[in-house]
Amino acid sequence: MEIQIRKLDNNEEIPYDLLLLADPSIEIINSYIHRGICYAAYADNEIVGIYVMIRTRPLTLELVNIAVKEEYQRNGIGKRLILSAIEMAKKDDSKVLEIGTGNSSIYQLMLYQKCGFRIVGVDKDFFKRHYKDKIIENGIECIDMIRLKMDL
Ligand code: COA
Repeated sequence: MEIQIRKLDNNEEIPYDLLLLADPSIEIINSYIHRGICYAAYADNEIVGIYVMIRTRPLTLELVNIAVKEEYQRNGIGKRLILSAIEMAKKDDSKVLEIGTGNSSIYQLMLYQKCGFRIVGVDKDFFKRHYKDKIIENGIECIDMIRLKMDL
């Protein structure tokens, strides 16, 4: 499958359907999307994946949203998006790239560690504090955010 990854143009519609796959809260998405840098994976002209980076501290970027359309998952696109984010952060001269995921997001934890992220902490009760509805994934309640980072 021919996939191209490039910055989302300002005149392109924000693919909320994709962003919501990674983050069920539209309020939280809206809190970062307009200050974020958005890259999309295109198959022909269709957006099949997305990632969003924000600057959180000097020399530090965080990958705050990454998602691949369900029918395109397990084809290596997620991994390519992460590698693209790492390249983009290096070109930006950032020194640290961070990402957070739920304690129940087992496959995401696999993917991020395969791409070189290391677990550095746990933001306890993050999802209880910030999300109204209970999130259950892989039969596990999503309560804590596992924090991962990579030195660039
Ligand atoms: N079962 C087992 N392993 C899985 C998996 C699954 N359903 N999904 C991802 N993985 C892991 C595997 O380790 C896989 O490596 P492998 O192919 O060598 O076994 C690795 O992830 C890479 O998979 P890849 O095909 O590149 O990922 P993807 O294109 O499916 O995208 C996500 C991964 C997480 C972006 C995608 O599943 C997604 O959009 N999920 C919903 C949104 C989401 O959860 N975003 C992250 C929020 S923190």
